[in-house]
Amino acid sequence: MPKDSFRLAIFFSGRGSNMVAIAEQAQRGILQPYCQVALAFTNNPQAGGIALAHQMQLPVVCLPLSKGQSREEYDRQVVQILYEHQIDMVVLAGYMRILSPWFIAAYCGKIINIHPADTRQHQGKEGYAWAWEQRLSQTLITVHLVDEGLDTGLILGQHPVDLVGATTLAEVEQRGLAVENRFYSEVLREYLSHRQSTATK
Ligand code: GRF
Repeated sequence: MPKDSFRLAIFFSGRGSNMVAIAEQAQRGILQPYCQVALAFTNNPQAGGIALAHQMQLPVVCLPLSKGQSREEYDRQVVQILYEHQIDMVVLAGYMRILSPWFIAAYCGKIINIHPADTRQHQGKEGYAWAWEQRLSQTLITVHLVDEGLDTGLILGQHPVDLVGATTLAEVEQRGLAVENRFYSEVLREYLSHRQSTATK
């Protein structure tokens, strides 16, 4: 018996183009019946994506880090919010905080991330700057499960971005984001359809 649609929370810290792209695909029915975007979450009150999420009429929660709060104390608050919204799956989209082991255990195998490079070659921030500095002819956008390591989780999908002829870092980023914004939803759809048919929530 297939499970109900997964309730996603999309986490972002900045402009939120991937959050918007996934929410748009969901609103257009492209991710049905596999999932719905039930929450847009950010740690950053200045994030440009907040206004965009409101425009899309998504439920939005912003929880800034309190002074003196440890990573785990903060994450416990975040997970409480996720439980209140009955979130099944966490989709990281430019979320600039490393999750605590406690968070990862609470949503074990249910946290997905997108990375602008091949995670076997580059981990952490500034993936486009890395590709640009290396003068790569292509970068590999990677969607992966999140484990306790830095960008070490199981790869769910990769997509090349042609960087030949790019003359600035901004152009590298622009080409990459165009792929990310389309590809993230494609991988989510495939992955969630597989999970829905084979596994329990
Ligand atoms: C993307 O390049 C993503 O791969 C990385 O952070 C960036 C977020 O961009 N993890 P946006 O906020 O979704 O536009």
